[in-house]
Amino acid sequence: MDRIETAGVIGTDVPRVDGVAKVTGSARYGADHRVDGAAWAYLKGSDIAKGRVRDIDQTAARAVPGVLEILTHRNVGSAVRPDKPLVEGGHMASSVAPLYSDKIYHAEQIVAVVVAETFEAARAAAAVLAVTYDAEEPSATLDSPGATEAKAHAMGETNISVGHFEKAFAAAAVTVDRQYETPPQHHNPMELFQTTAAWDGDHLTVWESSQSVTAYQHGLAKQLDLSPKQVRVLSKFVGGAFGSRGEMAQSTALVALAARRLGRPVKLVVTRRQGFSLRTFRAETRHHVRLAADRDGRLQALSHRGWELTSRTDRFALAGIEATCRLYACPNIDAKTVNVEADRQTPGFMRAPPEVPYMFALESAMDELACELGIDPVELRKRNETQHEPVNGRPFTSRSLVQCFDAASAAFGWASRDPRVGSMRDGDWLVGYGCATAMYPAQIAPATCRVTLAADGRATVETGSHDIGTGLYTILTQLAADQLGVPMSQVTVLLGDTDLPAAPLTAGSSTTASIGTVVAKACQEIRGTLAGAAVKATGGQLHGLDAGDLKLSGGRLVAPTGAAEPLTQAVHRVHGGGPVVADVSNNPAGAPPVIGPMLIRRGLGLIVSGSKPHDAVRYAFGAQFAEVRVHRDTGEVRAARLVGAFAAGRIMNPRTARSQLSGGQVWGMSSALLEATEIDRRSARYANPDLAEYHVAVAADVPSLTTIMVSEEDHLVNPLGVKGVGELGVVGLNAAVANAVFHATGVRVRKLPIRVGAELLAGLSRG
Ligand code: MOS
Repeated sequence: MDRIETAGVIGTDVPRVDGVAKVTGSARYGADHRVDGAAWAYLKGSDIAKGRVRDIDQTAARAVPGVLEILTHRNVGSAVRPDKPLVEGGHMASSVAPLYSDKIYHAEQIVAVVVAETFEAARAAAAVLAVTYDAEEPSATLDSPGATEAKAHAMGETNISVGHFEKAFAAAAVTVDRQYETPPQHHNPMELFQTTAAWDGDHLTVWESSQSVTAYQHGLAKQLDLSPKQVRVLSKFVGGAFGSRGEMAQSTALVALAARRLGRPVKLVVTRRQGFSLRTFRAETRHHVRLAADRDGRLQALSHRGWELTSRTDRFALAGIEATCRLYACPNIDAKTVNVEADRQTPGFMRAPPEVPYMFALESAMDELACELGIDPVELRKRNETQHEPVNGRPFTSRSLVQCFDAASAAFGWASRDPRVGSMRDGDWLVGYGCATAMYPAQIAPATCRVTLAADGRATVETGSHDIGTGLYTILTQLAADQLGVPMSQVTVLLGDTDLPAAPLTAGSSTTASIGTVVAKACQEIRGTLAGAAVKATGGQLHGLDAGDLKLSGGRLVAPTGAAEPLTQAVHRVHGGGPVVADVSNNPAGAPPVIGPMLIRRGLGLIVSGSKPHDAVRYAFGAQFAEVRVHRDTGEVRAARLVGAFAAGRIMNPRTARSQLSGGQVWGMSSALLEATEIDRRSARYANPDLAEYHVAVAADVPSLTTIMVSEEDHLVNPLGVKGVGELGVVGLNAAVANAVFHATGVRVRKLPIRVGAELLAGLSRG
């Protein structure tokens, strides 16, 4: 469809329409939904990471008062059918069906679900459920004995080759050859993972906070051998997602099965600790990056090898080489991603899944190259600027990376940086400035929606998409108000229900583009219907005019001549007073999609950037700066200032966009300095699965934070001209912080997170 013109509240700072509901508690999240007569489920997880369940003695558990049912592999088995992982066209995180057999693939895999009259009884019974195992030695992580390399099944390209890397690398004036590591990280959304399931005859209703009610509906239908029409899934408010609620976990179908067997609703709320093993996580990665440049800093060769951990059962890879190979001009490129299988749960998506680990490696290596060359790191990036991605030579629809660096470096005060390592001090604190590039693909997916305009001027927007905290309720309200020419107070947006028109996975920073486009299209259809009827109405103000010229504005249908009629009159004319309804779908042009396997049936698809070989590629860019302070005696590291400038096309609402980009920066800093899941290498179990031991940034860790939105108009990226800002802000900060730590101390930390203390102190004393 053509470019969408807007005139009203788009781009203005509108408070969240659901803000009051959220802060006053009237917004209902998944587990807030009360169902009469619900029993409670509690999960029992495996003590071992590899082997088989030998026996389950239920005597003590059955003796706990209030216990109603205990599901194990003995009474579930094929009652829940397997479904494929989402990245292979299914809906699940894992291809292993829950409680399918006695086989254990990872620690804390569900071995039983205890259902009781109360949460406490279910928990008490699960604690005394006696499970014995035949254990085998597990492989815990990337370099564990028995961990095996496998061809990656990735969202993107796993091999990229341009020119002659080895030859160019050998011949180059200056080279960098380094290895980097990122740790496993776990989702800890505020809202715990939960499911409530209730049956009405053969019809199942599930309340579960998710990023795709459509996927859960179809996944449940597949698992429980139902028609999708028999399954309704609701997710009206979501207390944090960022990838953790994209694929279905193994618990949902089990809760539904328990409810069916008991003939009453069942509710599950998993504990914080259980959440670490139930859902997906950001897998640990290793990188080998080699860069070669001429004396002026122009890249001659780039090689990026990535190793990503996956489970024994699924090959899930992110393949961030797709981004790192497309960032800078470079004639010789060689990149490859491989999976390493170990005895762990299948990993998945976490905010900017491919870019966060891969850009840490590349942007750290770029800083190392800048040091080797004696060129300022900002200048080095400018010297390698390109408006065509170097892999296929396709243009970017727009790319404002240089403008971002200019805006961010000015706001940060980069010019005052003394480039000499360890030269900047503030009392006992060593001060460092670092920077890095952020990039994220501008994606769009097929979507459907219904917009209804009633004769009283009230509009309703319906689509099975989700506001996962991003502001979708608000921007769709703005968009419909703008396109229909009515006040925002007259627009109602309904989301998160499979009874609504199907929408794609709310992921990949694609929702504003995907849903915004289809909603605007529906509004335009309504405008066309009203205008078509108005110009034909003999005796009407607009009779005989060109329908294409009429606009909806200020509660009226208006002609360029100034002739106009009230909206109510225009609507009334169409169906004899009934509302005007537009049921619309939008299928963005473009194949083959880069996230190919995700472009699947039933509106779950997601298209990244490029389409046909010569089409422009679509990315948003940013420049991120960090000031860190490292205590010279204790090695304590603090982020003191973060400045990010981002260009992401049209900004629908600066308030919600700023919130996304600022939150991304906080998470990026948290990732650089704090977040890591520790793995016990003998047992392949997580050692710190709670918020006491898994550290995330709290308010006191958040320094001065500046978010700049660089204006950018992109008429090619999609009809709305938006690129998406949900993930961009997190991408560059791991490297920016690590580069700042090097500038402060001379210690190059190539393994995240950057730990307070030992390593830095050792480096400091050497220096
Ligand atoms: Mo997001 S990591 O694309 O759910």
